[in-house]
Amino acid sequence: MSIIDRMIAAVTPPESDEARLEARTRATRAALPGDWLDQILQHHMDIEDALADVRAASDAASRTAQLKQLALVLTGHAIAEEAVIYPAMANVAAKGHAGMGYDEQALVKVQMALLEKLDPMSQEFIEKLDHIEGAVKHHMYQEEGDWFLELKDSASVADEVLLTRRYAEEYERYVGAPSLA
Ligand SMILES: [Fe+2]
Repeated sequence: MSIIDRMIAAVTPPESDEARLEARTRATRAALPGDWLDQILQHHMDIEDALADVRAASDAASRTAQLKQLALVLTGHAIAEEAVIYPAMANVAAKGHAGMGYDEQALVKVQMALLEKLDPMSQEFIEKLDHIEGAVKHHMYQEEGDWFLELKDSASVADEVLLTRRYAEEYERYVGAPSLA
């Protein structure tokens, strides 16, 4: 295991699936239709689906195609959080959460770049995908169970409007506008 793999392994989910589900339920209750948190929760689910699609692919060509889709939604989501949501988190009580968010997402970006170089049907690929999935799930758990609820509690109505508009703009700038189909 490389140093980065070990760093990622160190943050791999200590929490149970049940705890993750509870965090998602709390965050879903706190979100309003279409607001920044609602958009983020949808993107978290898109990322989970994309991870599952990479794993389920049965040949190299389809796994490579699914990996590109995963990279698109993961990077678009990370960029939008890093440009809009974490700066807002840095202004609320637990400032350390913003720094941790940036660090964790940087590690995932490094891991994704390494994953793209591996033979998509190799055991090594699956092991790295496992690390990425563990790190991403734990990161989402922290966001949904704690960090974003704290931001919601502290944000004014005007802040909420701005975060909602800016998150959508940054995500769409990378991923493209949602299709109307
Ligand atoms: Fe996120």
